[in-house]
Amino acid sequence: MTNILIDKIKELKKDKNFVILSHFYVNDEIQEIADFVGDSYYLSKAATNCTEKNILFCGVRFMGESAKILNPEKRVFMADMNADCPMAHMVDVEKIKEVKESYDDLAVVCYINSTALIKTYSDVCVTSANAVKIVKELKEKNIYFIPDSNLGKFIAKQVPEKNFIFNDGYCPVHAEITAEDVIKTKKAYPNALVLSHPECTEEVLSISDYIGSTSGIIKFAKEHNNKEFIICTENGIFYELKNNCPGKTFFEVKEKQICPDMKLITLEKVLDVLTNLNNEIILDNETIKAAKKPLLRMHEIAK
Ligand code: 13P
Ligand code: SF4
Repeated sequence: MTNILIDKIKELKKDKNFVILSHFYVNDEIQEIADFVGDSYYLSKAATNCTEKNILFCGVRFMGESAKILNPEKRVFMADMNADCPMAHMVDVEKIKEVKESYDDLAVVCYINSTALIKTYSDVCVTSANAVKIVKELKEKNIYFIPDSNLGKFIAKQVPEKNFIFNDGYCPVHAEITAEDVIKTKKAYPNALVLSHPECTEEVLSISDYIGSTSGIIKFAKEHNNKEFIICTENGIFYELKNNCPGKTFFEVKEKQICPDMKLITLEKVLDVLTNLNNEIILDNETIKAAKKPLLRMHEIAK
């Protein structure tokens, strides 16, 4: 059954001039059929660099929106329209306006995990792969970092010359990973190194051996000569970790390190979108124009 589905997906993808982009957190079989799999920064570049007219995004909504904003001439479809990152909504326009009025010399730095509307009020976007470099290069002294407080605090420590204003957004999936969990797992596997995503809490980050984006974690595990690693991020990353690191062992800190939104995506849904062309991302021109500026600025500074 699965093979029939995969064959149909491949056929339709070619016939209808689609590229399939997938994040590391989606189910293994989706990563397997995707043309490009990567972290949010890589995927936003892949959306621009691909030559296909249509993009099918296997990830959460902000990723599809960013692809559309950067490439308005392409049609972008979501494998599941309900796959949405809750953190992307954890800041509102009124709050941004308030902070803008309270500070001179302010840059609104917006994690790519945010809605298109929030991006229109932002000066520059960042992902966990490029945030430190970008914030360091901004001329403004005051940085309002939205929506993720954990990533904001992680960056602030590395850019002490800036004054950070934090927002109280967070990722519910990473927030579930506690320092106690990590310590318990480390006791069970004392030789393992702890690799964490910067969306984890400050307490977890403070006992981590490496902190980085999903692709940063994979690269570190691949290049390091240690054989065991404790992984503090969503468990979809294990697929790529195991494929890239034969002979190495990876441990979760809890049973369910799962982003329910990412896991909504199935082969059946991918096939349905390719067949019926539903779930298209539609954004008005004004939003695209305004949200494109901070995304382009990110690409410009990060390259
Ligand atoms: P990356 O950009 O590191 O892949 O992270 C995206 C994300 O949603 C983490 O929860
Ligand atoms: Fe959003 Fe967290 Fe899921 Fe990443 S893991 S998409 S930040 S809810």
